[in-house]
This record gives sequence, C-alpha cells and structure tokens, in this order.
Amino acid sequence: MRFINLGTKEEACHYVANELLKQMISDHQSVLGLATGGTMKDVYARLVELIQMNQLDLSEIKTFNLDEYIGIDSDHPESYNTYMHQVLFDHFSSWNEEHIHLPNGSVEQLDVEAERYEALIDEQGPIDVQILGIGENGHIGFNEPGTSFNSLTSVVNLTESTIEANSRYFDDVNEVPKQAISMGIKSILKAKRIILLAYGPKKKEAVQQLLSGEITTQLPASVLYNHPSVEVILDADAYPNQ
Ligand code: F6R
Repeated sequence: MRFINLGTKEEACHYVANELLKQMISDHQSVLGLATGGTMKDVYARLVELIQMNQLDLSEIKTFNLDEYIGIDSDHPESYNTYMHQVLFDHFSSWNEEHIHLPNGSVEQLDVEAERYEALIDEQGPIDVQILGIGENGHIGFNEPGTSFNSLTSVVNLTESTIEANSRYFDDVNEVPKQAISMGIKSILKAKRIILLAYGPKKKEAVQQLLSGEITTQLPASVLYNHPSVEVILDADAYPNQ
C-alpha cells in the first residue's frame, strides 16, 4: 500500500480523475468501481472536464457503484443513483444506461438484490480501478467496523457515527437511511487496482490508524494491506504527522 500526500485537495482529486481517465483511454471497455460521498464530488467535476476535453466515447465503459441506501427511492434527491447521475452520468449522452450499475435499495427482496449485484460484478468484472473514500471510523463502502473481511455484497446497518456524518445532506437526522446495500470487503478486494482518496482534517485519525499497519476488522480499510495494488491519495490535512 502506497501513501501519497499530494498537498492539496485539488491535486488529490485531480490525480484520481486523471487515473480514471487514463484507464478509460487505455481500454474503452473498462470496468470502473465508483464511490459517492462528499469526497468524490470534485473528482467527478474534474473527470467531466477531462472526458469532454478528450471527447471520450463512453458507450462501452461499465460502472459499478459501491453502495446505495435502503428506504429511499432511487430517484430521491439524496439517493446515490441521483448523485451519480447529477455528478457524472447526465453530463454525457454516450453512457449506456445498461452498463451503469448501482445496487437497488428499493426492491422487496433485498438479499436477492445483493446476490444479483455480486454475481453481476463477477460476470462483468473484474473491476479495473475501484475508487474508495473512507469513513471517519475507517469504513470502506458501508462496511462498518467489525465487518468480516469475507463479506460479499449485502444489506448492512449503518453506525450512528455514519448516520450522523451523512445527516449533513438531509433536512433532519431522522430522515437519514439506517441501512444500505453495500459491496462487501471481499467484493472490493476483487478489483485489480484500488485508489483510496481522503482529504481534510476529519479523515486524519482514520488515516493515522491505517498508517500504523495493523490489519483489523475494527478498521475495515486496513484490509487493503492484503491487496497488491492500493494507493492512498491524501492532502496535507489528512496526512498524519509522523
Ligand atoms: C460512498 C461510500 C463511503 C464514503 C465514505 C466517506 O459510496 O461508500 O464509504 O466514501 O463514507 O464519505 P465522505 O466522502 O462523504 O466523507
């Protein structure tokens, strides 16, 4: 695992956008593993500019998002489906909607949906580049502390701290979904290459714990030490003093 401090949030976001662009240029049938959350907004803003500048044909690119809330419809303003369309997909007509995948958190049989999603990743994958944010508690996807490293896509309960962190996007904390369908830790590790992005002082403690090198289910991101190709891209505020 390589830790890279790029100084500023802007540099860090541009790096991640550049790597996604390079992947898509090198293989127009790439499979991208995408994340949502505040961290990724500037990555997608830059990626939109880069795709425009390079006039990329996106019709054969496949995308898999890490997670989706349960309990709100996919067209809810705060669903991850809506987020992804706003920040990336709706900017280009060449995306093929059939190649865009997010778990569906509003179906009746959520376990069946989770199994379907995992099987689809296996069928169409492996994911070439998986981008990840990190929770203040060290979660990746919505795999909260204590999650088994063998977990596959499943229904997960969000911790109070994650609900609190996500409440900034909702009018009231009571409106924040308490469950999600998330790719599991084992699902994430199937990707060929992983880039974790973290910036700002709120992420420093989780990064500090990650840097300690201890691999523990209490810090889900620490499982990334078991993967051969992981970069942790940071700004100066998230980079621990050593
Ligand atoms: C989002 C996801 C989460 C976020 C993490 C950080 O798809 O899976 O793991 O990456 O909660 O969220 P932000 O970027 O809002 O701090």
